[in-house]
Amino acid sequence: MRCARSTADDRHLMLAVIGGSGFNRWDALQITDRLDLVTTYGAPSAPLVRGLATGCEVWFLARHGEPHRIAPHLINYRANIAALRDVGVRQVVAFASVGGIAASLPAGSVIVPDGMLDYTHSREHTFVDADADAVTHIDFTHPFDPGLRGHLLAAAAAAGIAVRDGGTYAATQGPRLESAAEIRRLERDGADIVGMTGMPEAALAREAGLAYAMLAVVANDAAGKGDSAAAVALDAAQAAFDTGMARAREVLLALLRAREGHG
Ligand code: HPA
Repeated sequence: MRCARSTADDRHLMLAVIGGSGFNRWDALQITDRLDLVTTYGAPSAPLVRGLATGCEVWFLARHGEPHRIAPHLINYRANIAALRDVGVRQVVAFASVGGIAASLPAGSVIVPDGMLDYTHSREHTFVDADADAVTHIDFTHPFDPGLRGHLLAAAAAAGIAVRDGGTYAATQGPRLESAAEIRRLERDGADIVGMTGMPEAALAREAGLAYAMLAVVANDAAGKGDSAAAVALDAAQAAFDTGMARAREVLLALLRAREGHG
């Protein structure tokens, strides 16, 4: 990202925030412009918003639109990532609301995941299509950018905000929630949290050459777990989720402040 004290060399760090459920608008952003663009893949979920936060220039995109109206399986992930790439973004911090599978992750927990399992289907999931010049196979061993993850974790530590370092995100198709048996399967597969938007977003970011990391906030116990033993009530833990979201946003500001300090 570019900050007040950045050098020209920092331009390659231009950062975007993709806001998810519970983060459609970013009040701390002093908006400088709003870009309505259409990519080869169609229009992104919302206009790209550019602004200043803690003196740094950042982009913001509301994944579900503003107001929140686009369901996870209907999001044009390709247009969102292509639009960010086209305006010069090189790093993405994605916010995600998730269900907690691991008992150690109650509502309100903030996680910087390091693993991904993909159970989505029928989504446009790659830029490698019939018109592509060549068939490319991206490396996806570590789906979240280790460098950007490290910066988020360091920023959280510096700000004294508790976040869980690592965990596997399972991406499900939605929009329905999972059955208890599906969650037991995800758990056996090694998933710690479950959400509906991490894929194909993370893979498209990798294809586009963007460093992508996630701040996931637990909204509820996943189906069949803890308070969701009988049923999932998505807003039953609203207060805990709101607190977690506020903490995740603080981590983001701490990341920007750290960059500003090094500019
Ligand atoms: N499952 C999938 N996605 C979610 C959940 C869940 O339990 N909670 C918030 N997003």
